[in-house]
Amino acid sequence: MWLSNSSVGRKFIMALTGACLVLFVTFHCLMNAIAICWPAAYNSVCEFLGANWYALIASAGLAVLIILHIIYAMMLTVQNRKARGNDRYAISRRPKTVEWSSQNMFVLGVVILAFLAVHMIQFWAKMQLQEIRGVHDVLPPAAGTLFIQEAFSQVWTPIVYIIGFIALWFHLNHGFWSMFQSVGWDSTVWIPRLKKIALWWTSIVVLLFIAQAIVFTVKANDNYYKTDPTLRMQYKEMLVPMFEKDFGPDAAQAINAAPYEQMEQMMRGTLSQMENPEAQAYFQNDPEFPKRYECVKNTVALLDYLSVDEAPAADIVPNNMQSPNK
Ligand code: HEM
Repeated sequence: MWLSNSSVGRKFIMALTGACLVLFVTFHCLMNAIAICWPAAYNSVCEFLGANWYALIASAGLAVLIILHIIYAMMLTVQNRKARGNDRYAISRRPKTVEWSSQNMFVLGVVILAFLAVHMIQFWAKMQLQEIRGVHDVLPPAAGTLFIQEAFSQVWTPIVYIIGFIALWFHLNHGFWSMFQSVGWDSTVWIPRLKKIALWWTSIVVLLFIAQAIVFTVKANDNYYKTDPTLRMQYKEMLVPMFEKDFGPDAAQAINAAPYEQMEQMMRGTLSQMENPEAQAYFQNDPEFPKRYECVKNTVALLDYLSVDEAPAADIVPNNMQSPNK
């Protein structure tokens, strides 16, 4: 097949997938800017996308693009090595005009891939993957800002990310204009212009990523994403569907209507009642009890995570949180 057998076909695939990835990275950078300027709106977007069919199709499409880009990069690297034959180590004698990044595109790609592996573990695996699996962990999967909090409160995160961004700068800067050359646009007028556009575009995107990583680190270390009242209310609202499922509409309504502090009091009170040995003995034949206990325990674990140097609230249990079998 022309696209995989011929050198031009392979370069065409590299250029096409590369162009889509440049657009994705630019879009992602703009999404991160929303997380900085309007964190609650960012969470709403995460909640809207979640693991819905359109988000899953987009993620699968992106994964296909990344995989194709990597496979064709490997094929082209092997092909170039074969073409050079015994002279493969002559790379160090290349003319000075051959840019450093052009000689190291594959290595730069590997560094970006390593960054992506860390990044997916920190975000995608805890957000979209959890929703796909239908697992309810302590942090609600739609709470993007809490995963930013988690990731950027680790000292090593900004270091690893900035190394990834620098590799991304070199990789995009070269890839951006060379993809036009690959598809035959080799004009002596346009290549210098494209190089300039590539330099500006990638520098702006990568500088924005670096600035965002710094802002996220400062805010996470300040516990901003845990303590901001608007975000806290939003995290509380994310619990409503879970309560609706496990306790019914009245409890869900009570959670929805209560201010954050009151909800915290309810939950802590409910948990201590549920953990009371007498209550456990009383409820042992209630088939609903285990999932309700799990739901309240997870909620209190989230509240513990969100409380920063705050004493636990007093026990107050409203009637609508008690088991209907009681
Ligand atoms: C400060 C920098 C960044 C932050 C805070 C950040 C944050 C995030 C978040 C919150 C998600 C959502 C996960 C989900 O909903 O499943 C995500 C997904 C992703 N990010 Fe980043 N990101 C950053 C930089 C980057 C860079 C530089 C790249 C590429 C080189 C990248 C590639 C991806 C990919 C491929 C996904 C998966 C998208 C999908 O599942 O559709 N990210 N990121």
